[in-house]
Amino acid sequence: MTYQAAVITVSDRSFWGKRPDESGPAVAALLADAGYEVALQIIVQDEQWQIEQELIRASEERDLALVVTTGGTGFSPRDVTPEATARVCTRMAPGIAEAMRAASLQITPRAMLSRAAAGIRGRTLIVNLPGSPKAAVENLQAVLPTLAHGLDMLRGGEADCAAERNPL
Ligand code: MTE
Repeated sequence: MTYQAAVITVSDRSFWGKRPDESGPAVAALLADAGYEVALQIIVQDEQWQIEQELIRASEERDLALVVTTGGTGFSPRDVTPEATARVCTRMAPGIAEAMRAASLQITPRAMLSRAAAGIRGRTLIVNLPGSPKAAVENLQAVLPTLAHGLDMLRGGEADCAAERNPL
């Protein structure tokens, strides 16, 4: 099953052309390698209503299975990606962010500073990643092998956890 994905870079600097977006392409390449069709790749400002608007569009207009955001998960006053994600999701999936932080803490104690969230809106799974290319890739790698099983449950309704012998 090939799922369609979106990559949304949340960054004032990249939006205004002051810093090239390296995280978005790095995340998109990982997703493509894992078999996803990256159908949408955009940059938005760290503006909560604009992030919410793009998340809703990706879910409702485009019906994309997976939306991955990068950036805006830290403590800066304009870091509001997790708040936008929580606003648009009807069901949260905290285990995904917990797994990312647990894996990332093996790499750097600063992993605890990511407030990344994950949740579900309709038929779409939304996953936040931190903003630096290194952090975004490390976090996504920690959960990517498991996301497809979640999407199978969300979309197909055919995933049978009990029948799975290999948890990966
Ligand atoms: N996770 C991993 N795996 N590697 C990292 O280098 N950086 C951390 C954290 N998570 C990091 C990481 C840092 S320094 C911050 S401030 C937070 O992610 C939030 O990043 P953001 O504000 O760019 O979203």
